[in-house]
Amino acid sequence: MMTPKMPFPTAAATATGRSDDPEVPRPEHGPPSGSFAAKALGRLRAARRLGGLRYALLYGTRMLVDSVRDRLDDTLVQIERRRSVVEPWSIAARRYTVADNVALWNTYDWSLRGEEWTHSEDWKRAIVEHYIAPHVPTGGTVLEIGPGGGRWTDIIRQRSSQVVVLDVSERALSICRERFADASNIRYVLGDGNGIPLPDASVDAIWSFDVFVHINPVNTRAYVRDFQRVLRPGGYAVIHHPDAHASVTERKQRWRSDVTDNMIQHFAAEHGLEVVVQTARHLRTGDLITVMRAPMP
Ligand SMILES: C[S@@+](CC[C@H](N)C(=O)[O-])C[C@H]1O[C@@H](n2cnc3c(N)ncnc32)[C@H](O)[C@@H]1O
Repeated sequence: MMTPKMPFPTAAATATGRSDDPEVPRPEHGPPSGSFAAKALGRLRAARRLGGLRYALLYGTRMLVDSVRDRLDDTLVQIERRRSVVEPWSIAARRYTVADNVALWNTYDWSLRGEEWTHSEDWKRAIVEHYIAPHVPTGGTVLEIGPGGGRWTDIIRQRSSQVVVLDVSERALSICRERFADASNIRYVLGDGNGIPLPDASVDAIWSFDVFVHINPVNTRAYVRDFQRVLRPGGYAVIHHPDAHASVTERKQRWRSDVTDNMIQHFAAEHGLEVVVQTARHLRTGDLITVMRAPMP
């Protein structure tokens, strides 16, 4: 299983040196290859000194196997992405798992409540105007997946009669509970990251920003299956996710999952949801928003 690169800068760090990425804190970039080679050599020397020659040779072989396996995985995932191979046994299903997300977001520094990813107030207004206002009806029941520190919840709760916030991170939910202690129209649900534990036809709209960019294709497919089930007829699901074009390196640096625009279209078609629009407007290169609509009876 791929473990997430945990040393994301903390919210406090990004507050002073703001990331140029509106949605995701800039992960620690990998060291340049020169220093990587120097590090590997240093480890081998230490292995020789501490464990002896045989140990150092085996340790070196193990490093080589790991590096070949990583490259092989990247190539396999490229094919899976190109051909929309989404299976529990696929390589992409081993990355960006629920466990990875729980570990990352339960220990994240939420002191800026996710606003460290807000480009500017104008940008946030544009997201509300173009994506929330047309699809999240006022006075309805809205499901928000992955509220984090409540960056969008604060807006949605003011226009909805009921908001259900569903997250895999207990920490994120407890931050929202504390932040919105005075709001009586929010329900908090801890999920298993692979679907929506709500009754059929129980919500008018679904909103999820900066969440499916970090969820693998298999879990994403399970969510889209449930969109169709929990949405009332004609309701919209608006989700922010990766597209097919960002490079492997770029995606790794931004902790972007292996989901593509085509996969989302396949999942929607599989479950009878109409893809109303798939667009990169107001988003960083490599990300998209897809708006899906549940069929009318
Ligand atoms: C980058 S934060 C974004 C928070 C918020 N949506 C925002 O835009 O500020 C990602 C959030 O998604 C949640 N998350 C990650 N994987 C999830 C999953 N499979 N199901 C539900 N929530 C998930 C995390 O716990 C975290 O709260």
